Amino acid sequence: MIKVGLIGCGFMGAMHANCYRSLAGVEVAAVADIRPEKAAALAQGATVYADGMDLIAEADVDVIDICLPTFLHAKYALAAMDKVRYVFVEKPVALTVNEGEAMLAKAREVGCFVQVGQVIRFWDEYVALRDMVKSNKYGRVVNANFRRISPRPDWGWQDWLLDASLSGGAAQDLHIHDIDYVLSVFGEPEAFFSVKNTLSETNSYVNTLLRYHDKAITVEGTWDLPGCHPFEATFRVVFEKAVVENAGGKFLLYTNDGVEEIVLEKATVGTAAAGGNISDLGGYYNELKYFCEKVAAGEPIEQATLADGVSSLKFLKKELSFV
Ligand SMILES: NC(=O)c1ccc[n+]([C@@H]2O[C@H](COP(=O)([O-])OP(=O)(O)OC[C@H]3O[C@@H](n4cnc5c(N)ncnc54)[C@H](O)[C@@H]3O)[C@@H](O)[C@H]2O)c1
Repeated sequence: MIKVGLIGCGFMGAMHANCYRSLAGVEVAAVADIRPEKAAALAQGATVYADGMDLIAEADVDVIDICLPTFLHAKYALAAMDKVRYVFVEKPVALTVNEGEAMLAKAREVGCFVQVGQVIRFWDEYVALRDMVKSNKYGRVVNANFRRISPRPDWGWQDWLLDASLSGGAAQDLHIHDIDYVLSVFGEPEAFFSVKNTLSETNSYVNTLLRYHDKAITVEGTWDLPGCHPFEATFRVVFEKAVVENAGGKFLLYTNDGVEEIVLEKATVGTAAAGGNISDLGGYYNELKYFCEKVAAGEPIEQATLADGVSSLKFLKKELSFV
């Protein structure tokens, strides 16, 4: 049985607890949150700690999962690496590149395997798209657009998300999902240009144009929308022989023969554990399943690694350096 210690029981901590409880051979053994009611809500028999450091010092766990606000990632991840061999840390990996580099150095020093919650790499439609690109099934990619737009995230503990000095703003918190994905599939571009909302301190809008020798990609993100606007994560990828679009809850393939819906096989689990089809948990389930399989096998993490997370953060910071 893999015993998980979960630090941070807010929005993402609840999602992770749900996923772990859907996985065979995995137990959420300890939870920590400075808001006792949040920890109690997720506990279901797990040992409860009032602070993440108490869990790291005292809990009997094999892995530690850090779902804390971004400005706390480095402090807790560094401490966790001294305790366990496997650490999961939510994205963005850290608030600053220096913190990310310190985490990399520590992981290497103590031999800890770290996965970063760059969950889009595990999201079914995005996994399918990556396979299409790699297999050249529809020829080369000619151009692409990735977009992630959201109402203002006002659910965070003490509104930490809306303070760019704690979260990095929409660019670092939201848009990094698509930038990390694009870098993981297409690599670093030859050149790029980025614009952001210069009137706002919260980097609440960013749009980046990446130039590769044979294609152009745009990546847009914002969380400046009113609460009544739905969250949307979409892409349109133009290949030489087809266009693939993921929008409005549909995954569509356009060719000269017409348009068809791409139906993906999604894993299912028992209703008691996850409350229905596992696609409800989407890539979160897939990424934590991968993580736990690596823990069980005692193997290194090879997807969404700490180095990947730091590399995407470095790129993101370069985007923000454009005025
Ligand atoms: N992968 C994704 O799609 C995704 C989505 C949302 C958030 N996130 C990331 O997950 C992380 C957490 O975000 P969230 O939305 O869950 O925030 P949140 O504010 O809902 O939850 C954070 C929790 O940490 C607790 N906390 C604060 N200090 C603590 C401490 N010292 N010890 C223990 N608990 C403490 C807070 O009480 C709160 O419950 C962030 O890095 C965020 O960027 C990722």
